[in-house]
Amino acid sequence: MSAPWWETGVLYHVYLRSFQDSNGDGVGDLRGLTHRLPYLSWLGVDTVWVSPFYVSPMRDFGYDVQDHTAVDPLFGTLDDFDEMLARAHGLGLRVIVDWIPNHTASDHRWFEASRDPSSALRDFYYWRDGGEDTVPNNWPSAFGGPAWSRDGRSGAHYLHLCLPEMPDLNWHNPAVEKAQFEVARFWLDRGVDGFRVDVAHWIGKHPDLPDNPPDDGSAFINPAKPPSAFDRVAHIYDMDGPLAHAVYRRFRALLGSYDPPRMAMGEIHLGDLKRWAAYYGADDELHLPAYFGLLSVPFDAEALAAAILQQEGALPAGAWPTYVLGNHDEPRLASRIGAERVRLAAVLLLTLRGTPTLYYGDELGLESISVGEAAARDPLGMRVPGLGRDGGRAPMPWTAGVQAGFCPAAATPWLPIPPGYHARSVACQQRDFASLLHLYRKLLYLRRQHEVLQRGALADVAVRDGVLSFVRLWKAEQVRVCLNFGRQPAALPAGKVLLRTGTGSLLGSNEAAIIAVQS
Ligand code: NOJ
Repeated sequence: MSAPWWETGVLYHVYLRSFQDSNGDGVGDLRGLTHRLPYLSWLGVDTVWVSPFYVSPMRDFGYDVQDHTAVDPLFGTLDDFDEMLARAHGLGLRVIVDWIPNHTASDHRWFEASRDPSSALRDFYYWRDGGEDTVPNNWPSAFGGPAWSRDGRSGAHYLHLCLPEMPDLNWHNPAVEKAQFEVARFWLDRGVDGFRVDVAHWIGKHPDLPDNPPDDGSAFINPAKPPSAFDRVAHIYDMDGPLAHAVYRRFRALLGSYDPPRMAMGEIHLGDLKRWAAYYGADDELHLPAYFGLLSVPFDAEALAAAILQQEGALPAGAWPTYVLGNHDEPRLASRIGAERVRLAAVLLLTLRGTPTLYYGDELGLESISVGEAAARDPLGMRVPGLGRDGGRAPMPWTAGVQAGFCPAAATPWLPIPPGYHARSVACQQRDFASLLHLYRKLLYLRRQHEVLQRGALADVAVRDGVLSFVRLWKAEQVRVCLNFGRQPAALPAGKVLLRTGTGSLLGSNEAAIIAVQS
């Protein structure tokens, strides 16, 4: 039986603002992406996830949607979107886009209408009475401060787990589901292959909005970032209730009603893996609830092995894992783990059992840029010191020329071009077969040649003398992956070497090898 494309393929995450500017305003756009699609096809990824391009006031760079079914002029037009999609499909690439169910921009017509207490749309959002100085409950916002703001017009408070300009939709109102499913249908009918569901679990709020209890240890703490007040809370009533699961069962049915069926990957940050894994449902909710565990453990053999086994152990029978090592909300992978380990990361991401998501620029080894206060753009960083996300969102360096080929010389890129981009650029690395970019390409090619790397079971996850190793098994094929996180060289296991990041008779420190084992 053949496996669905979302299980065998590799996702590439394009942060659109930073990928390729086509019109000289210093911001990446849809035409720019279309122009660069052949690169993605050369690289060998299968699916492109395009970050939000809908009409938005851009306070959270597009995650605050003002009009779900129109393209923001900053990114182009609906025709540009159609052209990008057609071009991608023509190249054999699939495209998924963000579906943002939990909130809208406060400029959305739904919210504008709901500010009037007598509006038929009042219940589209969570409105509660409260005093001038008292909020309806103790929930914090992920963007700092309380999750409630008072509307000057009616004096009532509305709920927002993100910015005050991003009010949360009330999914207990069936009209919200209807409206958001229509949004999904709009893009599905245009031909998108699926969605990345933004903070998927946040829609499941308790209908009475009770206070959350103090932290019970189930909070999702990412040691790569200073824990915020939001991270320290036990998220019991503000998210992840039964309503979310009921919605995703219906959402899955909607996706399944298309021929061929479409896919949903979910963004779900929950420290409790049981609660996280529940989003697979009985194979009737999200196809790929993204697993972020590898972002929040030290990048060493023991910690990674434990996280991999923990996620595998939490999966319901038949569920397919998915791994992330970087995204637009995190510091850059190379900065987090150290430049000397980026090759280990490449091999790990592309050989584990599961669907990998590769964040644009990680294939070049980009590091986080430091953005001074004056140039800072991310509202999260401005509100919660230490949580700024600009560092991992710098423009993609395409060439060693002016502005790295991202935008014309006269334009000002929306964030600084990464320093030292010349040698890191796509053009330079394409010329160097020993580059990190070529390693990613070779790994992606190898995955296509060896079904075992795409579909094989995972076995024998072990750590010895700093070497993390595991086996992938598929029919008669067996492959062993060895990653030397230790300081000392290690022995190479017997078998045919399919790919190595080093040379010599031993597996050096920070080197990896993929070996075909005779069974
Ligand atoms: C998660 C997205 O990845 C992040 O960038 C955004 O700020 C929040 N959701 C709010 O939509």
